[in-house]
Amino acid sequence: MINGVETMVFAAADLAKLIRFFRDFGLSENETSLGANFNLPEGSRVLVRKADDATLPPPFLPDGQGPREVIWGVDSQASLDGVRCELSRDREVTKDADGTLHAVDPSGLRIGFRVFARKALPPSSTKENTQTDRPRWNRTRQWFERAQPKVIQHVVFGIPDIDPALDFYVNRLGFRVSDVSRDRGVFLRAQGRNEHHNLFFVKRPLSFHHMAFGLDSIDELMVGANHMQRQGWSSNFGLGRHRVSSIVFFYISCPTGGEIEYAADGDYIDDNWVPRLWEPAFANQYWMAGPKNLPPTEIGKGARPLPQPMPRFSELG
Ligand SMILES: [Fe+2]
Repeated sequence: MINGVETMVFAAADLAKLIRFFRDFGLSENETSLGANFNLPEGSRVLVRKADDATLPPPFLPDGQGPREVIWGVDSQASLDGVRCELSRDREVTKDADGTLHAVDPSGLRIGFRVFARKALPPSSTKENTQTDRPRWNRTRQWFERAQPKVIQHVVFGIPDIDPALDFYVNRLGFRVSDVSRDRGVFLRAQGRNEHHNLFFVKRPLSFHHMAFGLDSIDELMVGANHMQRQGWSSNFGLGRHRVSSIVFFYISCPTGGEIEYAADGDYIDDNWVPRLWEPAFANQYWMAGPKNLPPTEIGKGARPLPQPMPRFSELG
């Protein structure tokens, strides 16, 4: 089964700027002659390469910058063999010497697959006191010096046609539909993960939308956001909480386009989760810290059960 994004490959015309961005964001790197490899505590990676690097797959986005490939992790060699067998039925699948597979999805996104032995994360000591529940007697909160993203939580792409992607990722790669934002997009969860979503497709021209990294707490998120702002990086949306997924977010504009998201306190779900059909604005914003984009407040009117079996995305009213 697929167990999340193992590697995201980025390309940049200004290599040094993108490396500085991810370094400021809190990722740890090994420099290479080709660029930088950023390593997350779970064992996943972000590779940053020059846009004209001949070792990269060809670009699938218009200007050749930003993501060049999403490499999905799978939990075993048998799973990897299964992916190769399934995808080889109707498309070219190439294989590297190390066993990594490469293919193209129905939207044109370059995707790869390799065995991913995810590492266990160290325990977090975050505890929230409420007026009646006080797990933190006689001690302060954990103080963070910097954010240290622990996992790649999700990647988001704009694609023009949702239904072929749904068929590909759900029926052929085992992803689960977590929720649907009506006429906007679909949230998908890898079978081997429990975050609300690991992949989100937004209905729009092919584009990179954003990528989210998981943190342990809202404090860590805001320490990271403050550091990024001190280093001169900007945010279009700032701080808020999505209603769908419950994620507290802080988005930072990525130098190669799209956004890179700090994410904390999201929902964790399994196959007992009941997917819903959401009104887009209601789903997207529960609260926002800034004065712009204040969310709708009609609680209870913005989500309903997703019909089962799920109709085609394009036929949902
Ligand atoms: Fe996100």
